[in-house]
Amino acid sequence: MRVLGLETSCDDTGVAVLDTERGLLAHKLYSQSQMHAEYGGVVPELASRDHIRKLLPLVREVLADAGTAPGDLGGVAYTMGPGLAGALLVGASIGRSLAYAWGVPAVGVHHMEGHLLAPMLEPDAPAFPFLALLVSGGHTLLTDVRAVGNYRLLGESVDDAVGEAFDKTAKLLGLGYPGGPAIAAAAAHGTPGRFRFPRPMTDRPGLDFSFSGLKTAALTATQQHALDARTIGDIAYAFQEAAVDTLVIKCARALEQTGHTRLVIAGGVGANTLLRARLEELGGKINVRVHYPRPVFCTDNGAMIAYAGALRLLAGQKEGLAFGARARWSLMDLTAP
Ligand code: KG4
Ligand code: ZN
Repeated sequence: MRVLGLETSCDDTGVAVLDTERGLLAHKLYSQSQMHAEYGGVVPELASRDHIRKLLPLVREVLADAGTAPGDLGGVAYTMGPGLAGALLVGASIGRSLAYAWGVPAVGVHHMEGHLLAPMLEPDAPAFPFLALLVSGGHTLLTDVRAVGNYRLLGESVDDAVGEAFDKTAKLLGLGYPGGPAIAAAAAHGTPGRFRFPRPMTDRPGLDFSFSGLKTAALTATQQHALDARTIGDIAYAFQEAAVDTLVIKCARALEQTGHTRLVIAGGVGANTLLRARLEELGGKINVRVHYPRPVFCTDNGAMIAYAGALRLLAGQKEGLAFGARARWSLMDLTAP
């Protein structure tokens, strides 16, 4: 089955065509980050308007790249939530309408299920069951994954998501948006040991996370020091170390508790090279295989939505004629297709 996937939950317009037998045929991404950078973060109304401008032209380009005519498609998958309501509604209304016009089923995909299954797009796809660390701009979750749609929450952030902490700290340091890649780049020039930030909630049992204290520690450092290039690098370094360390400590704990031998990292922060290296190191020590998507499929993209949607469409799942978006939607509410 050939599936068109659409992602519009935040500030990336992503489109892909996936063939369940031949694999990914084409994918394209239009990032709005430059537009939002001026405001230091995503402006929801601007995001929705830009998705409206970009989505249909991108669909045409990707169908052409994939050598696919609408008649070749077996369904359309779009991100139904969670995310920005207006942005989601653009993908949902266009996705639902295209499917109706083409006479094929449409399916609304959970954005985090898309992230979670993105490693399946890679040659070395993980087998079920596995432990998943989902780290994005809006979520920080540790999940026990038994099968598609069978997720058990092990831990989550009680306040800021880790990606949000990267973004807020980058803003404090004047590094712009999105903050993750900017912090990582600045940290490359940082001096180890000049600052040391807390590893929140690692000194007590449990698998929940908290990142607001780390952000506050970075704020205090910016207030106590002149922000020259060297200090910015040093704070970025200490922040990244503390954030990554915290994630690695919790992953080690969750692997020990569950006995899983496979760990999947997904979501935008999963593109962080230090996090990948440290988790690989951990995996090597305790005999756990670490899987992650290539960096472009860590951050938001249409391919992961096409993949997750295709699994559900193949199982016969489809939306009615009405369409909607769910700005808030727990991954744990999903069931097997
Ligand atoms: O998954 P994603 O693209 O969008 C959401 O669903 O939120 O994640 C975006 C988040 C942003 O907070 C961004 O700063 C972070 O992922 N991010 C990174 C890196 N690349 C993106 N964080 C750390 N290191 C990176 N290299
Ligand atoms: Zn995402």
